[in-house]
Amino acid sequence: MKNIVLIGFMGCGKSSIGAKLAKVFQCPLIDTDQVLEEEFGCTISEFFEREGEEEFRKRETMLLERFIQKKEKMVLATGGGMPLCAENAALLKKIGTVFFLKVTPEETLARLENDTTRPLLMGEDKEKKVRKLFAERMPKYMAAADYVIETDGKSFYEIINEVETAVK
Ligand code: S3P
Repeated sequence: MKNIVLIGFMGCGKSSIGAKLAKVFQCPLIDTDQVLEEEFGCTISEFFEREGEEEFRKRETMLLERFIQKKEKMVLATGGGMPLCAENAALLKKIGTVFFLKVTPEETLARLENDTTRPLLMGEDKEKKVRKLFAERMPKYMAAADYVIETDGKSFYEIINEVETAVK
């Protein structure tokens, strides 16, 4: 079986679904945000503030380049911006089978209403920010994906089943 790579907008469930998939497939879950936070020694928000988004994106690409070398199986949960540049999208496809966990902007807003950990959504008018990012990103997520999984209204069980069926 190839590695499973999860992509999608902030709050779409990459980490929580990733954790369940890792159990099913008995392999580690690697969460790129978590690895980067450990390496930075600070939160992603702090890193954005100190070094800026561009530097963060460079570090994301460098991390993917390292994962190409990895031999052991894994489920990879990526940060929401990871597949947006063509270079990263190509690296992700090399790493494994890429699943886009699709949610609506409405569901995203409901989930992230009180969130303070996403620097790109901080400040005024979260709804406007979410809708703008959705419009910009949707074609890129679709292009980066091997499979698109509609997650709204589905149970974890159903989503995991869809992934299992696709990789079998
Ligand atoms: C980002 C998503 C975040 C994190 C950073 C940037 C994005 O990850 O990598 O705040 O550009 O969508 P999650 O998708 O896990 O929230």
